[in-house]
Amino acid sequence: MLEIKQIQPSDTWEIRHRVMWADKPFEYVQLAEDEKGLHFGVFKNTQLVSVVSLFIENDSAQFRKFATEISEQGKGYGGKLLAHLIEEAIQQNVKKLWCNARLSATELYQKYGFQIVSESWVKDGVEYVKMERNL
Ligand SMILES: CC(C)(COP(=O)(O)OP(=O)(O)OC[C@H]1O[C@@H](n2cnc3c(N)ncnc32)[C@H](O)[C@@H]1OP(=O)(O)O)[C@@H](O)C(=O)NCCC(=O)NCCS
Repeated sequence: MLEIKQIQPSDTWEIRHRVMWADKPFEYVQLAEDEKGLHFGVFKNTQLVSVVSLFIENDSAQFRKFATEISEQGKGYGGKLLAHLIEEAIQQNVKKLWCNARLSATELYQKYGFQIVSESWVKDGVEYVKMERNL
């Protein structure tokens, strides 16, 4: 059974760490802003397999730290979570949704209507571009 639910900030940390920044200290994935965010997770039966966090400011919102457990990637969970995130943002009256996307994720975001709106840059050895879509 598959379910997408709102979760606590701390529920996201282990997957964030394992999938995105395993070589950094655990604290690296705990954001100061986490308490102000909305966090969503995909549950496969009772196992949390994919997470994403949404940070709303006025009528625009950034999503961050989107990650699917490595053994569960490529099974459609991330796509479903992204679709849910977009619906949630619309409900919250967000007009523009954006992210700093790892280059490896840009194709997925393009499928969900996001466009690249910046040059690329590198931080901590990862190459990013800014992507956004109007809602
Ligand atoms: C980006 C990410 C969250 C997508 O989650 P996911 O659960 O794998 O997403 P989906 O299964 O819906 O796959 C989406 C697309 O990603 C691609 N993909 C990503 N990882 C893949 C994998 N390990 N194997 C196969 N395809 C993969 C597929 O091409 C798929 O495209 P499709 O819809 O045409 O099949 C996940 O790959 C991830 O955690 N990556 C590492 C962290 C990261 O880069 N996060 C994004 C930061 S901007």
